[in-house]
Amino acid sequence: MTDNEARDIIQNVKRDLGKRLVILGHHYQSDDVIAFADFTGDSLELARKASQVQDAQYIVFCGVFFMAETAAILAPSKQVFIPDVSAGCPLADMAPADQVEAAWKVLAALEPSLVPVTYVNSTAALKAFCGARGGAVCTSANAGKVLAWAFSRGAKVLFMPDMNLGRNTGRAMGMGDDEMVLWDPALSGGGLNEWDIRRARMVLWKGWCPVHCPVFTEEDVLQVRERFPGVRIVVHPETDPATVKAAGEAGSTSQMLAAIEALPDGERLVVGTEAHMVKRSAREQKGRVEIVPLKEVYCDDMAKITLTRLALTLMNLGSDLGRVVLPEGVASDARRALEAMLRL
Ligand code: 13P
Ligand code: SF4
Repeated sequence: MTDNEARDIIQNVKRDLGKRLVILGHHYQSDDVIAFADFTGDSLELARKASQVQDAQYIVFCGVFFMAETAAILAPSKQVFIPDVSAGCPLADMAPADQVEAAWKVLAALEPSLVPVTYVNSTAALKAFCGARGGAVCTSANAGKVLAWAFSRGAKVLFMPDMNLGRNTGRAMGMGDDEMVLWDPALSGGGLNEWDIRRARMVLWKGWCPVHCPVFTEEDVLQVRERFPGVRIVVHPETDPATVKAAGEAGSTSQMLAAIEALPDGERLVVGTEAHMVKRSAREQKGRVEIVPLKEVYCDDMAKITLTRLALTLMNLGSDLGRVVLPEGVASDARRALEAMLRL
């Protein structure tokens, strides 16, 4: 199928189904795909949108699998589809529920009031694990708020699966590095001794996003500052803490776009995250402000969603192709953790 044929199909299905179809698009999607999204957003905004969709029978999620899964959990009466079920997230896969169960046994034995918090970039099983234990989900847009809530409920937090978001948020909340310890699932006992665990306020799961870490570096920040002395730099909080510290600012994809919108005319901003979003924004803002990518990096999983895959999904709505369905037990516990976040 050519791209033009795919565009015709997408347009026709959208016209025929009208309000019965909602297409959600994450900011990291290509321009081709994002052009057909009814709503675009960061993970938090798209999760909220999925929970609020009223009339639609079908939600098609242009993003990665955990995002479509989150939509299916929050919109149980809708049929949710993803154009390519193999569009995963390596970060989400770094905390399999069985490894988390094993860690929990050790940690909760030492601190019974431990509260589990998972980044939305996680499997439904991990969200369910948190929901079943009084925990919550967070996104990069609200991690500080969710962590403050979690600390109001227990003395310690187990934060999964992104060690960088965890540490960056802990630091922004005023926590010292000595109050955060790293649980490495590849090591016996997570590589921690009893004293490490007892003294910590937050136990960080050793997971990371390979698109951001170790890709964006402190060195990149220093180089761009040499090129543009005094320039403002914002990076995604999945970037490692040294780079975030050097940059000076971090935010979710929508928070970065809001920072770009708010720039006074003629200003320059260096942005460190996935390049589809940064380059689109640079193009849209050309002539008003200058948006400079810290580095040109793409998320291969996000890029699996193409016009052809979207067209094929729309042609087969109502079938099992790309349909995201969860076992009800998992969905209801995961919903608890997501709703705890959405209430904040
Ligand atoms: P946002 O919630 O900031 O959109 O991030 C999602 C993501 O996967 C970043 O890598
Ligand atoms: Fe996952 Fe990183 Fe891609 Fe985001 S950019 S979807 S965290 S691999």
